[in-house]
This record gives sequence, C-alpha cells and structure tokens, in this order.
Amino acid sequence: MSVMAVRSVRTVTANMLLSVFFLSGALADCDKNLALLITAPKEMEALTGSCLQIPCNFRVIKSEEEFSSARTTFGVWIKNEPQFSNPDNVIFNSSRNDNIYPMNLIGDLSQKNCTTLFSSLITSYTDKYYFRIENWPFVATASCDPLQITVLDSPPSPRIEISGDLKEKESVSISCSAFTPCPHSPPKLTWNLQQDPHIMTVEKKDRTFTTKIQKNITLSDEHDGSIITCSARYPVNEGKDVKTAEERTTLNVSYAPKNTSASISPPGLVSAGSRVNLTCSSRANPPVSRFTWLKISKDGPVTVSEGDFYSFNVTDGGVYHCVATNDLGNQTSSEIHLTIKDPPRDTSVVISPTDPVSVGSLVNLTCSCRGNPPIDTFVCFMINDGRLAMIKVDEQIHGFKVSSSDRGRLYYCGCRNELDIQLSTGRQLVFEGDQRVGAQVIVKILGIVMLVSTLVIFECWFRSRRSIKPQKRAVEADYVNSVVELRPS
Ligand SMILES: *[C@@H]1O[C@H](CO)[C@@H](O)[C@H](O)[C@H]1NC(C)=O
Ligand SMILES: *[C@@H]1O[C@H](CO)[C@@H](O)[C@H](O)[C@H]1NC(C)=O
Ligand SMILES: *[C@@H]1O[C@H](CO)[C@@H](O)[C@H](O)[C@H]1NC(C)=O
Ligand SMILES: *[C@@H]1O[C@H](CO)[C@@H](O)[C@H](O)[C@H]1NC(C)=O
Ligand SMILES: *[C@@H]1O[C@H](CO)[C@@H](O)[C@H](O)[C@H]1NC(C)=O
Ligand SMILES: *[C@@H]1O[C@H](CO)[C@@H](O)[C@H](O)[C@H]1NC(C)=O
Repeated sequence: MSVMAVRSVRTVTANMLLSVFFLSGALADCDKNLALLITAPKEMEALTGSCLQIPCNFRVIKSEEEFSSARTTFGVWIKNEPQFSNPDNVIFNSSRNDNIYPMNLIGDLSQKNCTTLFSSLITSYTDKYYFRIENWPFVATASCDPLQITVLDSPPSPRIEISGDLKEKESVSISCSAFTPCPHSPPKLTWNLQQDPHIMTVEKKDRTFTTKIQKNITLSDEHDGSIITCSARYPVNEGKDVKTAEERTTLNVSYAPKNTSASISPPGLVSAGSRVNLTCSSRANPPVSRFTWLKISKDGPVTVSEGDFYSFNVTDGGVYHCVATNDLGNQTSSEIHLTIKDPPRDTSVVISPTDPVSVGSLVNLTCSCRGNPPIDTFVCFMINDGRLAMIKVDEQIHGFKVSSSDRGRLYYCGCRNELDIQLSTGRQLVFEGDQRVGAQVIVKILGIVMLVSTLVIFECWFRSRRSIKPQKRAVEADYVNSVVELRPS
C-alpha cells in the first residue's frame, strides 16, 4: 500500500518535472518521439589542438521498433539542432569514412556505449551536439540530451585544493588537479612543493578525466604566507606545441605565537627612580590578542601589566618576561634582568676576630662594601707615621699576625665597580688594655685629616698602576675617569 503510494507520488513528480521541462520552450523539440536518452555530460570543455573524449551511453526508452544489437548500428552526431534539415549539420556518421569533423566512436554501440573521441579540435567546433542511433528500422535522436562543447584556446587553470585545517602541526593533503579532456595526452603537472613525481590521470564519477598530483605535509608557521604554484603543460597539435596554465595560492596557516621577545629601553643598568620602557614583540596568526608582563618574585611570576608596551619608574631591580597569547596558544619570552645602578657604598674595614687584639694574634682585615655591578677591585692600605703603604690589591681579605708596630696604624680600604670607587674611613686596631675611647678619638681626628690627602694619593697610585698592568688599560682608563669624577663631590 505505502509502496504504491510512494511510487505514484514519484510518477506525479516526474510528470510535473517533464511538463515544466517541455513547456519551457527551449527544448520543445524533445518530447515528440522520446525514444533515446544518452548518459553523457551536459557540458564539456576542450582545448584547441587536443582531443576530447566524450563518455557516452545510451538507452532506448519506448519505441514500436525495438533496438537490436544483432542488426548493424550506426552512431551519428549532429551539431546545432536535433533535426538535420541542413545535411551539413550531420558532422559525423559512423557508416561513412569521409566525415566533416574528426570524430571516432570508440565505444561499442552493441553494448550501448557511444563513447566518442573528438580530435584536432578548433574553436569553431564550439557548438551543441546531439547523438543519433540508426539501427534500422529503429532510428532515434537523443533530442533531450544535447551536449554543449566549448573549445578553448587556452586551458583553464589547474585547481589547488587543501584538505584539512590550516593550522600548525596539522597534517594536510595538498593536491593540484588539471582538467584533462584528452586522457590520451594528459597535461604534465609540476609544482613548487617537494615533488615525489606521482602524477596520476584518474577517471571521475562522470567518467571524464582529471590529472592530479598530491602531497601530504605537516604544517608549521613557516608555511604561513608561502605560495604554492602549480602549472599544467598540455601537449597540443600532436605534441608539436604546448599550452600552459598556472595556478597559485597563498597558504594562510594559523599558529601560536613565535619569536616572542622582550626588550628594554634604555638598555643596561638603570638608576632607581628613572623611567624604563619594556616592549614585547611576537609574530602569530591570528595576531597576538594579549601580551602579559610578569615579574618573577619570590612567590613566582606575578602579572604586572598587560599590553605589548610597559613603561614604569624603577624602584627596584627584577626579572621580567612577557607572554604573547592568541587563540592557538601562548609563548613566553626570554627574561629581562632589570638591574639598578649602585655605586660602591658602605665601604668599611672589618676586623675579625673583633678587637681588642694582642701582639702575636692573627687577625683578618676584610674590606666590606656593597654595589652593583659587583665590586671588581678591592684595595687595602695603611697610613703609618703619615706615610701611605699598600698592603693588598685585588683581594678582599688581608690576614696577618699582629705586631707591636701595628699600634697607631690606620687601615683603609677601597671598593671599585664599573660606576665608581669608594674609600672607607680609617680604622685602627685596638690593643688589649688600651683605652677604647681614646683610641676612637684618635681614629676620628686622624681619619678626617688624612682622608683628603689619601684620596689624592690613591688616585695617583691608580694612575701609576696603569703602567704596571698594561693589559688592563681600558678598565684602568675607566677607573681613572671615575676617580676624577669623584673629586668634586
Ligand atoms: C548515415 O549514413 C547512412 C548510410 O550511409 C545513411 O543511410 C543515413 O541516412 C545517414 N544518417 C544521417 C543522419 O545522415
Ligand atoms: C565505453 O567505451 C569506452 C571506450 O572503449 C570504455 O573506456 C568505457 O569503459 C566503456 N564504458 C562502459 C560503461 O562500458
Ligand atoms: C624565530 O624562531 C625560530 C625558531 O622558532 C628561529 O629558527 C628563527 O631564527 C627565529 N627568527 C628570528 C628572526 O629570530
Ligand atoms: C619610553 O616610551 C615613551 C613613550 O613612547 C618615550 O617618550 C620615551 O622616550 C621612552 N623612553 C625610553 C628610555 O626609551
Ligand atoms: C617617573 O620618572 C620620571 C623621570 O624619569 C619623572 O619625571 C616622573 O615624575 C616619575 N613618575 C612617577 C609617577 O614617579
Ligand atoms: C599559556 O598556556 C598554558 C597552557 O597551554 C596555560 O597553562 C598558561 O596559563 C598560559 N599562560 C598565559 C599567560 O596565558
């Protein structure tokens, strides 16, 4: 019951379609003796100087005279109109050898195969074509199935297709296919991708042909913006000439941020309170949607700012980095070490073990100070009876055995880094049994009196030191400058 219903609905639909079809007028000729249908493409393109293979099968649908493959069958192609009022329109009749157009039935008509090879095409062959069967007394023209053939002077561009997601790390298949009207002389395909030359000419569903090359690649950010060029070279005129068509496409591959880097301006050391600019840069597709600045503190990284530009007044040093983020992921830049300029300070002579000392005991004089960049030179000297004497250079600690002549000596030390030098105040050893207060007063008075001249002497000493250590000249020159700068303050 329901099957019947479905079938009748189908018939009605078919009838409706047919009436719409025939009433349209354009194909008014095709309803009169609808005895022959062909299965072939409705439209085909071909290339001048080449051939066109027309896939074709026919069906006899209703007729008083039956088609019989036992009788001789001729195939006929008529151009322009289904009737052949003009005999010149019968451009091919398989019973004849002197046909107007260079066509050849390569299908077996007894198998209802009307596949035809149309050769040496020229643009004036562009037309509508009708197929006819002559199997006397059965004769019929497939007037409802015209085939529009367009003969092109130059081949259409091949088609580049990419399957899959255009994202980094994705594996996609890229193919280039070219129209192949003449499978007997297919185009040669070349492209700018690494070629494993596996060119294939394959039959499509509609039994026309296509020529194809294909490659699987795993995408990376480097593919973004790269151009794929594919060209098809068609042999024409029996291979004497060639016609070329080319296609190019630009890959748009999305990827997470790459080459994320942070920079600081001004570079190098900065003074506390001054302004610094941090800039983050990265490349990404789609572009970076968020830049985050992090400062590494004791508790780990802490977000301090958003945006690619971060400007602030320096209060302390620290380690910064930025993170660039887009839809696909994020990337962290390398670290920026923000270091505050810190000339030597708190320079002092430390005696250990702490005094009072006694003759014969061992003591260490340590030059203690702070600074950034780190202290690179220490110096230890003393003033003995108003004369300066060097004790130690380049070492922070001077250990010695106390003798009675150490009584009354004033010990000094100095620290130097790239930025400046600083000298300590004088320090005197306090001997066991000495009056502490008295000693300190002496130290103070002597310290003040001696310091000025000591600075001058110290500078002179550094000048002379340059000739002793010529290999360190650049550093020394710097040092002398620092000393000169130090004088006005
Ligand atoms: C095809 O050729 C046969 C034999 O020569 C002839 O009888 C027939 O009329 C021709 N068909 C057409 C459509 O001209
Ligand atoms: C029709 O004939 C052509 C040419 O000989 C052949 O390649 C094709 O496979 C045939 N088609 C069918 C459906 O038999
Ligand atoms: C960007 O990063 C890649 C590695 O991810 C590296 O090979 C390349 O040299 C970098 N380019 C620049 C300009 O730094
Ligand atoms: C920091 O950026 C501001 C604003 O762009 C600019 O005026 C200033 O000169 C920059 N400072 C440095 C040290 O680059
Ligand atoms: C930041 O430092 C600049 C000079 O480097 C100064 O002019 C400005 O007032 C400071 N801003 C703040 C908020 O301290
Ligand atoms: C970066 O991505 C990772 C996971 O891929 C996530 O855990 C992390 O929070 C992201 N960082 C930022 C700053 O967005």
